[in-house]
Amino acid sequence: MYKSPNPLSPEARGQLSETLNARLTVGLDLHSQIKVAHWNIKGPQFAALHPLFETFAVSLAAHNDSVAERAVTLGGKAYGTSRHVAKTSRLPDYPQETSKDLEHVRLLAERIESYLTGVRESRKVAEQHQDTDTVDLLTGIITEFEKHAWFLRASLEG
Ligand SMILES: [Fe+2]
Repeated sequence: MYKSPNPLSPEARGQLSETLNARLTVGLDLHSQIKVAHWNIKGPQFAALHPLFETFAVSLAAHNDSVAERAVTLGGKAYGTSRHVAKTSRLPDYPQETSKDLEHVRLLAERIESYLTGVRESRKVAEQHQDTDTVDLLTGIITEFEKHAWFLRASLEG
């Protein structure tokens, strides 16, 4: 571990950095999948969903940056090349031949929910180390992406 302005032990910072990197990997994978949905979506809901998916992607890119920089602030490294992500992400790959609007909605809802499960796991690690700042960062992501998942699920109901 590198030196850090954070007072936690190197061991605690190592665990936090590791879990943040797991979130970064899935976040980067999910970002690319959202863009594929944004580009390929077709159907009656196109006008609403094409820009909505872009807002998800823009927001997730900013969160990925914050997660990476938190890992480095804590004295770790941030791993984020496409090849690293392809090797380590636990998200299922995106079926890129999909075109139908509501099929993209279902696929993204499932993947955002899987991402959220991981972010909650990381928040638990941060809570165990009483790292309120990492907890806050992750809570912000959870609150926002639960809302996005709700938008998607609401589009599938009714
Ligand atoms: Fe675009």
